[in-house]
Amino acid sequence: MDDFLRKLPKCEHHIHLEGALTPELLFKLAKKNHVQLPPTDPAFANPETLKARYKAFTCLDDFLAYYYVGMSALLDATDFEALAWDYFQHAAADGVAHAECFFDPQAHISRGVTYDIVLQGFEAARQRAQAELGISSELICCFLRHLPPSDCLDTIRNPAVQASMTAGQVIGIGLDSSEKDFPPQLFTEVYDEARALGQNLTAHAGEEGPPSYISSALDDLKVSRIDHGIRLIEDSALLKQIADQGTLLTLCPLSNVYLKCVTSVSELPIRAFLNAGVRFSINSDDPAYFGDNYLLDNYLAVQEAFQLTAQEWVGICEAGIKGSWCAEERKEELL
Ligand code: HPA
Ligand code: ZN
Repeated sequence: MDDFLRKLPKCEHHIHLEGALTPELLFKLAKKNHVQLPPTDPAFANPETLKARYKAFTCLDDFLAYYYVGMSALLDATDFEALAWDYFQHAAADGVAHAECFFDPQAHISRGVTYDIVLQGFEAARQRAQAELGISSELICCFLRHLPPSDCLDTIRNPAVQASMTAGQVIGIGLDSSEKDFPPQLFTEVYDEARALGQNLTAHAGEEGPPSYISSALDDLKVSRIDHGIRLIEDSALLKQIADQGTLLTLCPLSNVYLKCVTSVSELPIRAFLNAGVRFSINSDDPAYFGDNYLLDNYLAVQEAFQLTAQEWVGICEAGIKGSWCAEERKEELL
């Protein structure tokens, strides 16, 4: 089964490129760029102490504090290229055929790193992944929900952001960062503007937040995918609605364990989702922060917990291809 899962052509829809920053690359870039890591936090003594600290995340916000410090080491286009290339190499080893990757422009622009620098680095890695590894990829621009909606609006109105969307370099938007107390409806205007630009729409909802955040993402933001969505299991009417509509959930099993949303993968409602006909893909979220577990590790963890049949896995991968936002011709190649 392990070999079958490795060889299955997989799509990944929920990978934050900044979440692929390994402690080794973080220390290397911090040294190169003369960026000081927090001197008062002993976790930053070396890559090994940092890895040990990552094993003790208590919740999403505890992780996010480290995630944003990590980003502070990314300054020039070659840094972003190295980061994304690192991810694509892992993806190739795991049998990823197509990846739709999140990135967080506000976290870079606020540090004086321009959007064009970020995009230039990611573009170089994406082209190399296509040419050398045969991996197709797309970019999804995420908005940080802990920041004021006005900051998100300024970002989507940034001419460089708009140009990337009209040129098709960025094909969709997402909503991430701290979830509790930041309901999707706060960002309705941002999503209205993205929709007018022809963007695909998704949002993190129901990771830590209640099922009402999933409804708000659907009704107010009009998303076609939901990132995480595990708390959908608490609302049977909404569960039926999502199954009927065919909305894709992008599940991240090991992320949920590392961030203490559940105590083990077996606690996730994967069997219930399959039984109810809820479509989902399996994803790695922030692999470098969650035990160096990339996509295949997540597939294997689900397999260990749920003993799915080969037919069920083929169905999951097909739902992932159909729920992808790449060109129709690419979907046909993958099917
Ligand atoms: N949830 C919210 N924001 C994030 C995540 C996540 O899992 N990963 C990176 N930013
Ligand atoms: Zn995520």
